[in-house]
Amino acid sequence: MKIYLKEVSKSYDKKVIDNIDLNLEGYDAVAIIGKSGCGKSTLLRLMTGIEMPDKGRIIVNDKELNKSNLIEYQDNIGIVFQKHNLFPHLTLLQNITLILEKIKKLPKKEAKEKAINLLDNLHLKDQMNKRPRFVSGGQAQRASIARALATDPEVVFMDEPTAALDPILTKEVLDSVIGLRNLGTKFVFVTHEIYFVRKFADYIIFMDEGKIVEQGTPNILDNPQTKRLQLFLENEGR
Ligand SMILES: Nc1ncnc2c1ncn2[C@@H]1O[C@H](COP(=O)(O)OP(=O)(O)OP(=O)(O)O)[C@@H](O)[C@H]1O
Ligand SMILES: [Mg+2]
Repeated sequence: MKIYLKEVSKSYDKKVIDNIDLNLEGYDAVAIIGKSGCGKSTLLRLMTGIEMPDKGRIIVNDKELNKSNLIEYQDNIGIVFQKHNLFPHLTLLQNITLILEKIKKLPKKEAKEKAINLLDNLHLKDQMNKRPRFVSGGQAQRASIARALATDPEVVFMDEPTAALDPILTKEVLDSVIGLRNLGTKFVFVTHEIYFVRKFADYIIFMDEGKIVEQGTPNILDNPQTKRLQLFLENEGR
């Protein structure tokens, strides 16, 4: 992935993202960690163009993100949120074929083949004719991931996709994500699951109060340079 942030700030009632510089060129799996309210979701929303910065620039593949290229950019990324946002009245399969037909403009037959393939990758083929309400939370979340992958995104952004799931379903979803990473999908991932970050990430960003406090390869977790990261890791129970 090739994402740069230059002096990016964002405020709501107070400053939430505070003059962040970031260079994610060349990484495949970036994890964003930090305690609740530190700005992780906001940073992710800025990187996906869901929110625009008050100040600073976001540069993706050498192009600055702005209103005129936003839609094109968003068609080329995938986004998965904390709670699945599948259409409730459509089956898992239809949720995906819809995207393939509308955005990718695939003919019906191809869309169906590709959707089944995606669902199969996430071990959901046997569930594909059910509506979201009739599958487990983990299965619905995996279907959201399958849908996010439908457009062959350059990067998939995930904001705590397992936060609403119990430990068994969490493991099921995270194992799927590791499988996809092994297939070559690139991720920017907000999570509280530190054990997963260790297995998954090739770059880690630790935030506190709207700033990046530490960043680097996963060994920053074994050798934290700041009291703040040390404390965070102690509280998260590693
Ligand atoms: N749309 C909004 N309007 C006003 N304040 C907001 C908005 N979104 C976020 N905030 C505030 O910005 C701060 C950072 O929020 P953010 O959601 O980015 O944190 P987070 O690190 O993702 O937290 P969590 O781990 O709980 O999801 C918080 O103080 C939050 O209350
Ligand atoms: Mg959040």
